[in-house]
Amino acid sequence: MSENVPSISIQNLRHSAEERQKLFKGLTKVGFLYICDHGVPKSITDRVKRLSPDVFLADKWERQELAQWREGKLSYGDIYNEKDQRVVNERSDVKLDKKEIDEAFFDYISEMYRVGEILVYWVEKVLGLKNGALSEAYGKDPILVQHINYYHTKPNERWAFVEHVDRNCILTFLMQSEVGGLEMDFNGRWEEVPFRENTFTVNLGNILEHATYGVVKATWHRVRMPANQKRHQWPTFFTLSPKSTLFQIQDFAWNKDNYQRRLIEERARIIGNDNRHQAEVLTPDTNILEWLKEHSKEFEARKDFPKVDSQILEMVSRKQGDEIGYDVAENEFRYQNYESKK
Ligand SMILES: [Fe+2]
Repeated sequence: MSENVPSISIQNLRHSAEERQKLFKGLTKVGFLYICDHGVPKSITDRVKRLSPDVFLADKWERQELAQWREGKLSYGDIYNEKDQRVVNERSDVKLDKKEIDEAFFDYISEMYRVGEILVYWVEKVLGLKNGALSEAYGKDPILVQHINYYHTKPNERWAFVEHVDRNCILTFLMQSEVGGLEMDFNGRWEEVPFRENTFTVNLGNILEHATYGVVKATWHRVRMPANQKRHQWPTFFTLSPKSTLFQIQDFAWNKDNYQRRLIEERARIIGNDNRHQAEVLTPDTNILEWLKEHSKEFEARKDFPKVDSQILEMVSRKQGDEIGYDVAENEFRYQNYESKK
C-alpha cells in the first residue's frame, strides 16, 4: 500500500508551508495526490453514489432515453455502444429518474470545477508561477468530462484498465469506491492507491506534464478488478477546451532533456516499445493538439482499447457540451439501430 501519495488538505494550503511542500512533492515526484478538506458536501457525493447503480441496471432503451434527453443541464455521451453489447441489459424493470440524475451530476461536476480551480491556484503557487500562468498555458475553462464507470462481477481477477497515462487531460479527480485496485508506477514499482473516506484521488494528465516540460508528472497507472466484486468509480477529467492554444511554459524548459529521458524510460519499461496501445511516441516537442486530433478517436474506436468489461456513462454540462459540439449527432447515429428494433 502506498504511503507515498501525499494527502493534501485544501484548507491548510493557505497557512501551512508544510502542506504546500507536500503538494509540490506530489506534483513533481509522485503524480498522484489525495485531496481532503475540500468542502464538497457529503449530500452531493452520497446522492451521486446512490443514483449510479440503477443506471447500469436499467435496460438499453431506458438508457437511450437518458442519453437523448434534452431538458436537463447535462449532455450525455457514451452510455451504450456496440462494445457494451455483451453487458448491457436488454430488458429491465428499473426506471431512471432523469431529472434527479441530471441535477445530482450537475451539482457534482460544479463542485469538481470549484475544487479544481482552487487546486490549480495552489499548483501555480508551489511551482513558483504567477497566478493564471497554468490556465493561460492550457486555456481557460477546461471541459469537465464526468464518468461513472461500472465494473460488474466476474469470477476471475481482471484488468479494469491496463497501464496508461491520462491523455487529453489536465488533471483527473477520482472518487473511488471501497473496492480498491488502483495502482500507480512509483520509482519503478507498482503501488496501490487505495480508497480513502471523504477524499478524492487526483492524478495529473499529460497536458499538464507537457505544459511544464515534465516538471509536473503524469504518472502511469492501472486498475485491477478483484474477483467476485462489482465496483463503481467516478472520475472527472479536466480536458482541454477547443478554444485552447496549448503552449509550454518556458520557465521549465531547463527540464526538457530529463523529461525526454523519462518518457522513453517509462514507456519502454511499462508497456514495451512494440506495445499496440499508444503506439506513437510522445516527445517534449510533440504538438499535443495535433497528436490528440489524430489519435484520440482512433484509440477509442479500437476494439482492444483498454476498457475491459466495463460500462461508462459519460456526461458534460450542456453549456460546455454545446461549446464542443458534444453528443447530439453521435448519439443519434449511435442509437438509430436500436430505435428501429424496439
Ligand atoms: Fe486513468
